[in-house]
Amino acid sequence: MARSVSALGAFALLIALGTSAFPQAVPDPETDIVRLAGAIKPVVAKNGMVTTQDAIATRIGVTILEKGGNAVDAAVAVGFALAVTHPRAGNLGGGGFFVIWLAEKQQAVALDFREIAPAAINAKSFLDENGKPDISKATRTGLGVGVPGSVSGLATALEKFGSGKFTLEDLIAPAIKLARDGIPVESDLERSINFFQKTLLRWPSTAKIFAKDGAPLKQGDLLVQRDLANTLEAIAKNGPDAFYKGEIADKISLAVREAGGVMTSDDIAKYKTEILDVVRGNYRGYDILSMPPPSSGGALLVQLLNILEGFDFKGGPNAPHTLHLMVEAMKRAYADRAEFFGDPAFINVPLTRLTSKEYAAQLRAGINLAQTTPSSQIKAGLTPKKEGDNTTHFSVVDKDGNAVAATVTLNLNFGLGLVAEGTGVLLNNELDDFALAPGVPNAFGLVGGEANAPGPGKKPLSSMTPTILLKDGKVSLVTGSPGGSTIITTVLRVVSGVIDHKLNIADAVLLPRIHHQWMPDEVRAERAFERMMPPEQWIAFETYGHKVDFFRFNIGAANSILVTPEGITGVSDPRYLGTLAAGH
Ligand code: DON
Repeated sequence: MARSVSALGAFALLIALGTSAFPQAVPDPETDIVRLAGAIKPVVAKNGMVTTQDAIATRIGVTILEKGGNAVDAAVAVGFALAVTHPRAGNLGGGGFFVIWLAEKQQAVALDFREIAPAAINAKSFLDENGKPDISKATRTGLGVGVPGSVSGLATALEKFGSGKFTLEDLIAPAIKLARDGIPVESDLERSINFFQKTLLRWPSTAKIFAKDGAPLKQGDLLVQRDLANTLEAIAKNGPDAFYKGEIADKISLAVREAGGVMTSDDIAKYKTEILDVVRGNYRGYDILSMPPPSSGGALLVQLLNILEGFDFKGGPNAPHTLHLMVEAMKRAYADRAEFFGDPAFINVPLTRLTSKEYAAQLRAGINLAQTTPSSQIKAGLTPKKEGDNTTHFSVVDKDGNAVAATVTLNLNFGLGLVAEGTGVLLNNELDDFALAPGVPNAFGLVGGEANAPGPGKKPLSSMTPTILLKDGKVSLVTGSPGGSTIITTVLRVVSGVIDHKLNIADAVLLPRIHHQWMPDEVRAERAFERMMPPEQWIAFETYGHKVDFFRFNIGAANSILVTPEGITGVSDPRYLGTLAAGH
């Protein structure tokens, strides 16, 4: 059995640098999914549900629902709260996506508040003096910071899709209080600050907030974020312009430039959230609504499900044949990701064909049922031609059947780790999601080419996959995850667990996760698999020719909701401490 315990190439480098390839992956012995499997039951509620990575944020969301807010109102309040309580991914200085389902109008929309490359970024920005790609420029300096989208995104969500019962000020108020009064450092926060202390403490402006007497904050300490409280207050009073124009924007652009970046206040002033059509698909009687480019997530999810629809999974979710088929589908879909996906404002992504049943049938026919196809023999399956023309995920469902699937990120844990002096805002390092040079792996080992080259005003390609499934026109599943390249396959596993294996939402989320991204040609599996499956089952899986890397961290954090005849059921991924699903 091929196993490598240590992380691979670029990942190892990032870990050595004090940041992780899997920014949510704070090692946590207490969240042993083998021990938890079957023991965790979904939370059930009648009216509405919020599932997030952080108990305080979940409670804030539920309070908004109880006061008559809709799912969007609650999601906006949760988004601002997470910027305070879950600083490794919740943010004002990063970006994200919402997929929203509006039940009464039967309308689905995608909100794109992805970070944007400053005007002075170009295809050579991340090369060293010898023309070689230098990943640390993207992950460890101001060059990797994209113009933050979250403040605009949350404000736009409220303005366009909120119930109208709450002002931005109402929904930011709980976050301001938490930032000003401070939050107790609990186990999950302690672990993350401690694990990523090298990322954080190298910046004096950050150390002032996250350390005491030179040491990372620990349990028993209070995390007080006064500058962040002031920034939030300015946004609450004066709207997003308070963030995008004037003093705060000047401080952010200055901090980025002092850290070696090229962002100007003008880049920040230009930021705009985009409202897009969702990517649509269907799978065994369910409608899929998910995130379009600049994320690859939704299209790949649909493509994967289309391929898998032609198979049955009678052996169960962990049967060697099931895993083989999933991995083979993944290899083919991620090959397409590397070739075709990028910012749709700059390139033409052949979405219609990539998500078609016909194309999936063609890919399915190429799958050898008995043997893996080496990645080197898999090429992107379409000839390009023009067509008409660390992250956290949370899910919300309200009493009227509206839903929000939300994934937000700073990219790696705590992003660049740099708090822009005087603002409390932690800045992202999202531009590492560009293909820094053709075929060169990014922090998640993902490769890409021309379609995702760095460029001025461009959005780096994402894998974030906030997803809503409908059954007979009504919300059924709301899901998504952090985990960089593994996000899409984590969502696939949850969707398949619910639909193919009829699991309740807790059991679907607790299924051990398996991932392949075409390159490197290696199956990444959660370590739990090793202990959950009898050895002969692994041996059977390996007879298909798969090389397995048992990854040292859990994969993903899929805080999900499933609407059932028994009620609205939810689970916050038990892989991390301090998460909460709650309803009313
Ligand atoms: O947009 C993306 O695909 C990545 N920047 C997401 C990063 C991420 O999920 C980190 N969390 N584990």
